[in-house]
Amino acid sequence: MKRRTFLKNSTSGTAALVAAPTLIACKEASEKPIVGEESSEPIRPIAVCTWNFQNATAKAWEVLSSDGSALDAVEQGVMVEEADVTNETVGKGGRPDRDGNVTLDACIMDKDGNCGSVVYLKNIVHPVSVARKVMEETPHIILAGKGAEQFAYEQGFKKEELLTESTRKQYEEWKKTSKYETVINIENHDTIGMLTIDKNGDIAGACTTSGMAYKVAGRVGDSPIIGAGLYVDNEVGGATATGVGEEVIRTVGSFLIVELMRQGKSPQEACEEGVKRIMKKNEGRKDFQIGFLAINKKGETGGYCVHPGFTYREYTENGHENKTVQSFYQKE
Ligand code: GLY
Repeated sequence: MKRRTFLKNSTSGTAALVAAPTLIACKEASEKPIVGEESSEPIRPIAVCTWNFQNATAKAWEVLSSDGSALDAVEQGVMVEEADVTNETVGKGGRPDRDGNVTLDACIMDKDGNCGSVVYLKNIVHPVSVARKVMEETPHIILAGKGAEQFAYEQGFKKEELLTESTRKQYEEWKKTSKYETVINIENHDTIGMLTIDKNGDIAGACTTSGMAYKVAGRVGDSPIIGAGLYVDNEVGGATATGVGEEVIRTVGSFLIVELMRQGKSPQEACEEGVKRIMKKNEGRKDFQIGFLAINKKGETGGYCVHPGFTYREYTENGHENKTVQSFYQKE
């Protein structure tokens, strides 16, 4: 992969070449991976997210290029999609469960392994920010349902209707023909997972979704589950997932990807291995999409998905780079 440096002519004009701790890949399986060793690799601030959410990566880059932290960048980046009512898979405007309730899941994780999460959260536009409050203001990691909503109000979040005219109409149509049956991936589900590296070389991640459309009430997917929808280890890298959450939870997907990178795999190799493990257990199934996005300490990225149109969006000092990863899973 082509490497870039975060040069003085970047958006902020403030960064310089700095020694960064990095993952040294092992060439042979028996070789021990060396993690956290100093190297002369330049730090490469970057924001990447699943799918083609260019406004989200642009926002994250704005934060990074103003010397903001990786954590602030992922939060503010994914908030763009949470607030965008035309995105019907995340935040306000997300599709409801089969009883007509919009319930949101999100999590966030920082460079020190701190994390926060909310599941089955109603009436709040920015679950990722509530997740951050859980991380920073409580001794807990996950808050659910009514308790999470109550906590959000205590933290100053406002109650808001999340169902829009568009999603209400679609739901009414679904009810006419669905027989109240939840069907996997009847929508094209585009969860946003984002990973960033800041000017200090630190990594953070966030993941947020309205979950599967017309899910059984109470269903929680992978997106708010640390290790499944998101995982960050600042010595190695980060990973996030999109697609059918049940399959990602079963394999502790994002943790798996980071551990594969720790063993020396590139982000791309790790994502491919993760998807293949899932597909090995699901031969013949055509009803779902599963994808992983990963970043390592050097700022290298990779993505792989059981969906021919999978794209991930990357923002570096040179601006948008829209990567379409059409490495659709094929049985070997
Ligand atoms: N990956 C999102 C979900 O399954 O809810």
